[in-house]
Amino acid sequence: MSVSIKSQREIELMKEAGVILATVLDELEKIIEPGITTKHIDQIGEEIIRSYDCIPSFLNYNGYPASICISVNDEVVHGIPTRKRVLHEGDIVSLDAGVIHKKYHSDAARTFAVGNISKEAQQLIDVTRQSFFEGIKFAKEGCHLYEISNAIATYVESFGYGVVRDLVGHGIGTSLHEDPQIPNFTQNRRGIKLLSGMTFAIEPMINAGHFSVKWLDDDWTVVTTDGSLSAHYENTVLITKDGPEILSLR
Ligand code: MF3
Ligand code: CO
Repeated sequence: MSVSIKSQREIELMKEAGVILATVLDELEKIIEPGITTKHIDQIGEEIIRSYDCIPSFLNYNGYPASICISVNDEVVHGIPTRKRVLHEGDIVSLDAGVIHKKYHSDAARTFAVGNISKEAQQLIDVTRQSFFEGIKFAKEGCHLYEISNAIATYVESFGYGVVRDLVGHGIGTSLHEDPQIPNFTQNRRGIKLLSGMTFAIEPMINAGHFSVKWLDDDWTVVTTDGSLSAHYENTVLITKDGPEILSLR
């Protein structure tokens, strides 16, 4: 395993990639409403990404057929947008997107409410987001990688939710997926020491029920085995001496 340390120039480009991606997700949030199809969201997302002269990094990645992963309700991640899938009031929808800007990647995800949603669904969204912030308290030079994982898991499990184990966060830079892998569930060792200039995509995927997931026959869509709701929150983060810098938030 080798974890790359980015130079100042690389960090500048990753910051630019991050701000562009934050803008894409902020714009997509505005169009989420009952009646829109997941295909339409994907099309608008791709247009916005290309309007910044960026490449949608997920498109054709290992054959993935869209620019935005759109996962509804019990879909955890990697849902494929289609013209048939219409969002309904009360749904929750996770949008995961990545851009390549001047060869540098950013990767981020958020779960949004479609119209009015249940208190239970809103709590799942809020806890998933907060678990990211609990984790990045340790995204700092001198901390160890799995302190991030353990902080996420401890927080999430205190609500009785399941932390997905089959998918993990990752290093990011000139590739979408670099070393190290970043699990969101408890590890019984401390992992590598963090150094400033490392860049990570930290991405808790949290189920309202059991942590187990399965793949649908499209070989992409991951769903909860028990049919419970699932939420996702991800940002591209830079490790510094003073703590985390979140690159994909405005
Ligand atoms: N954010 C996800 C990840 O980090 C999405 C990539 S899957 C893709 O793995 F195939 F759609 F690109
Ligand atoms: Co990712």
